[in-house]
Amino acid sequence: MSPVSSPDPNVSSNDPTGFRDLQPLIETALEKACEFGAGCPERLGDAMRYAVLAPGKRLRPALAIMAAEACGGVPEDALPGAVAVEMIHAYSLIHDDLPAMDNDDLRRGRPTCHIQFDEATAILAGDGLIAQAFSHLAENVQDPQTACEAIRVLAVAAGPMKLVGGQADDLAAEQRIVSQQPSLQSNRSDLRLLEAIHRRKTGALISASLELGAILGGGSDAQRTALVHYAERVGLAFQVIDDLLDLTAEAETMGKRTGKDAARGKLTYPGLLGIEGAKKKANDLIQDAQELISVFEKRKWRLSSLANYVLERQH
Ligand code: IPE
Ligand code: IPE
Ligand code: MG
Ligand code: MG
Ligand code: MG
Repeated sequence: MSPVSSPDPNVSSNDPTGFRDLQPLIETALEKACEFGAGCPERLGDAMRYAVLAPGKRLRPALAIMAAEACGGVPEDALPGAVAVEMIHAYSLIHDDLPAMDNDDLRRGRPTCHIQFDEATAILAGDGLIAQAFSHLAENVQDPQTACEAIRVLAVAAGPMKLVGGQADDLAAEQRIVSQQPSLQSNRSDLRLLEAIHRRKTGALISASLELGAILGGGSDAQRTALVHYAERVGLAFQVIDDLLDLTAEAETMGKRTGKDAARGKLTYPGLLGIEGAKKKANDLIQDAQELISVFEKRKWRLSSLANYVLERQH
């Protein structure tokens, strides 16, 4: 594959997202990775492609590429990780939307996978994408030790202590009986629980995206640690803003239903801190994230733009 004609990673651009120029590379890699082989039933393959190739923001693949670049690598180094992480993300959205979970009918501006196909196909498409993510990494990272480390990082992030555990606790926390006059104490423990949910259900995969980029881009231990610390702030802020947008944005802009968290009795940041409190929380996290990437000096511009974009995004 010829190298992407992205701007010099040392030079900032006026792209407020920090990754618009990376989108074609990401889309091409995803399309290629979604050519499933013989043995994959047509309807199952269609459902997997429908979920992955729908117009998502591609934040996680972009983060993997940005991390590789920040560590001195080129975008192509990160592509196996970028594809794998988007497959895990797409699976998590298919399952998140199922009737047994958030029961949503709109995703990325289209009917959710179980509405477009059927529930069993959607479940199986999710299952297929999990396995495909790992086989994609195994087959496309040349050095076996690097492949093994990349697979480990993604498996931990997607697993029961992280993404799946956060999703389980998110559902368990729905519709809890909140006392009529919540005490300071109960608010503090709710906030602790909420942070633990958001860090696992959303933050862990965002961290893994950056870590994968660092691993595949040949980053040093110090660079990898700085990226993980940045990711912890950006990942939590991303879900705080998702909670805010559920409350304040329109379905047409978001490409998914809004106003649902309160209706389902979800534990959310604006629910506990109010809109202004949640905005301040996200803002503080992003300010912290900005400081943590100063070690990358001029190479930090994409990561810096992306952190601001996470705060200011409208969908
Ligand atoms: C949606 O993620 C699920 C959350 C973790 C909040 P995104 O907002 O990144 O969704 P897409 O990929 O752009 O559809
Ligand atoms: C989803 O969180 C997190 C995962 C899919 C792992 P949400 O349930 O808040 O995401 P949306 O709002 O449906 O996109
Ligand atoms: Mg959910
Ligand atoms: Mg949901
Ligand atoms: Mg949400």
